[in-house]
Amino acid sequence: MKAPAPEIVPDFASVTEVITRFAEHGYIADDRLATTVFLQTRLEKPVLLEGPAGVGKTELAKTLALATGRKLLRLQCYEGQDETKALYEWDYGKQLLYTQVLKEKIGQLVADAATLGEAVDRIAAQESVFFSERFLAPRPLLDAIRSEQPVVLLIDEVDRADEALEAVLLELLGENQVSVPELGTFTATTPPYVVLTSNNTRDLSAALKRRCLHSFLDYPTAERELEIVRTKDTGLAESLAEQLVKVVRGLRDLDLRKSPSISETIDWARTLAVLGASELTAKLLSDTVSVVVKYDKDVSKAVEALPKLIDPNAEIAEPEHGHGHGHGHGHVAVSLAEEDDSGPDGKAIRVAKDAPGRHGENYGGPTSVTPTPVQTVSSSQGSRSFAKGFGKNRRPGKIG
Ligand SMILES: Nc1ncnc2c1ncn2[C@@H]1O[C@H](COP(=O)(O)OP(=O)(O)O)[C@@H](O)[C@H]1O
Ligand SMILES: [Mg+2]
Repeated sequence: MKAPAPEIVPDFASVTEVITRFAEHGYIADDRLATTVFLQTRLEKPVLLEGPAGVGKTELAKTLALATGRKLLRLQCYEGQDETKALYEWDYGKQLLYTQVLKEKIGQLVADAATLGEAVDRIAAQESVFFSERFLAPRPLLDAIRSEQPVVLLIDEVDRADEALEAVLLELLGENQVSVPELGTFTATTPPYVVLTSNNTRDLSAALKRRCLHSFLDYPTAERELEIVRTKDTGLAESLAEQLVKVVRGLRDLDLRKSPSISETIDWARTLAVLGASELTAKLLSDTVSVVVKYDKDVSKAVEALPKLIDPNAEIAEPEHGHGHGHGHGHVAVSLAEEDDSGPDGKAIRVAKDAPGRHGENYGGPTSVTPTPVQTVSSSQGSRSFAKGFGKNRRPGKIG
């Protein structure tokens, strides 16, 4: 008798189930996004999420892992990253150690070789020993393919990587496989759920897009944003949270260099709750506005707009804090951007380093040194740099 085919247990029974199971893990997905996730799990296609920083792209991958009980593997992309940090490399240190220890044995091998050429040929014949499984150091992409446990593979901020790395991804995305010339091709037994994110700092290749289900994540509707704030237990009263969400949306309509994202709304709600806010006034919001806008000019624009955002009928007083310096009522959070913008040099350097949109909201920007009463460290920090733990003194060992 033939054994019954292994039953494929679908992760989600329906789009609605995606929504409810994501909500159980604190992620509020709308129908469109939930449909994309549902299709991903059914069609086993990678998902490419594009959109501004802080709208929940990374969080979606983390939540997908939680909701499906899969392990999360993460490749954080960066400029200049090469495939040895993404796919695999040869453990050069280990190869060297082995050759040292086996010096004598290797010596015997070539001892009676008549010519140098013959000696080289004999060593070459042993190459496969050193380019074998034992010396392979897999990185996240190969790990994902070889994992026995089903995984969610997050390829985060792929737009930061160079196009060459993007090309390396194609085999994995299209065929769920990775080729190691010396060893052969590894194919995933359980295809990983792959989530790629991009902050749109450059266009991705058509080849990559073609292999993915594509979803654009934008700032949420007021309703959904309020729901998100609610799930975060910020401590801010419901009516104030509702008002705050409206204000943040108003700020997004201003022409700011960096619009406040969802995480900033959450931070602001927490800040106001810590301060015991019982009502939102233009002054209170101005005093704490650097929690949500991080550039000097943005702060001035926001402070100017706040009275109208809080109360459309407000009389706008002459803005006394055009530049955020030296006013007596004590900003709760003084953004570094305000401080270092004073000299033209600092500004020029920062502008040069810091193309708009290039950095995520949690990218070690001003917040990290801002004495806010609330820590604005996002949950994604800490796990960002997958490469931190390894390759400390390792040299690229790929030969030939
Ligand atoms: N739909 C959502 N449901 C719950 N929280 C969300 C949602 N979208 C964003 N957030 C919150 O915003 C934060 C920033 O999201 P993140 O995924 O890091 O943004 P991105 O990767 O798009 O830059 C998350 O840590 C989470 O707290
Ligand atoms: Mg992210």
